[in-house]
Amino acid sequence: MRGNSNAEYRMQNAELRKIHEEGVCEESKMRETGEAFAKINISLDIVSKMDDGYHNMLMVMQSIGLSDEITVECAPGEGISVETGLPYVPGDERNIAAKAALAFFAHTGIKGMKTSIGIRKNIPVCAGLGGGSADGACVLRMMDKMFGTGLTRNELETLGNSIGSDVPFCITGGTALAEGRGDALTDLKQMPACHIVLCKPPFSFSTPELFSLINCEKIRARPDTAGIVDAIEKGDLNGVARRMYNVFEDVLPRGKRDIEDIKYALLDNGALGAILTGTGSAVFGVYDKAADAENAYETLRTSYEDCFLCETTGAVGI
Ligand code: C5P
Repeated sequence: MRGNSNAEYRMQNAELRKIHEEGVCEESKMRETGEAFAKINISLDIVSKMDDGYHNMLMVMQSIGLSDEITVECAPGEGISVETGLPYVPGDERNIAAKAALAFFAHTGIKGMKTSIGIRKNIPVCAGLGGGSADGACVLRMMDKMFGTGLTRNELETLGNSIGSDVPFCITGGTALAEGRGDALTDLKQMPACHIVLCKPPFSFSTPELFSLINCEKIRARPDTAGIVDAIEKGDLNGVARRMYNVFEDVLPRGKRDIEDIKYALLDNGALGAILTGTGSAVFGVYDKAADAENAYETLRTSYEDCFLCETTGAVGI
């Protein structure tokens, strides 16, 4: 976490406003590039439904090396745009990256900045990999850096929480236990080194729909979250992988055999464990041996377009 005091931050912010009001910024166009890392759910449990309709979660989350590349440009003016080159990703204020920029401006009081966000999407959308959340978190980090506002990790996470439940985790990523809506985070020791193979079938599940199918009192199997946390602390990869579980697997629409097919292909090629991430539809396997991971990746690639081979990543410093 960066150690700027609130007083320092207010001073910087006041200076920024002054600079802008006096028009000194007119000449300058600011530009920042960054990497937004995807996440996987090592475990996903749903404890209860809250009064506001959201669910109280218990998840072990992990960031991975699959990432979107983001460029943010700000210049004096008005308006916000997002360019991904993908027709099905909104390019306006519905995009979570745009929401992040707007939340940043609202929080810091910075006004009159035309903002253009370019995203090279490598993380498949609607996959349970937190692609949109990672983009939003990355934009918040980049804008904080660009404007020198020195927001604390806590401030960035709170801003992130206002735009999506997985955004707070994506602010730093790494390995964490996520509770509440997903915003109550406890940093964990880094996950033992391993290889991750990811595969997304050519369909997606609706997140609100899958949540609506969950009856918290009737969940038949739950992950051993405490056991996973303990195994992570001990550096026991096998202990982590064999306990992985996602309660959404119990309510998946019938007839989507690909989820099981992918899982068995991952396990048949030596995965220590394989589960659905988030609300899917991507499935991942954890490997201790690079050769097994390679084989799984090559096998799945013959049947599915969206396959990835990567490693887990540590937390980004704030
Ligand atoms: O917060 P976010 O926009 O990512 O959530 C998408 C949807 O997922 C929500 O509209 C809600 O239906 C569901 N959700 C939930 N409980 C959570 C997180 C998400 O019910 N903790």
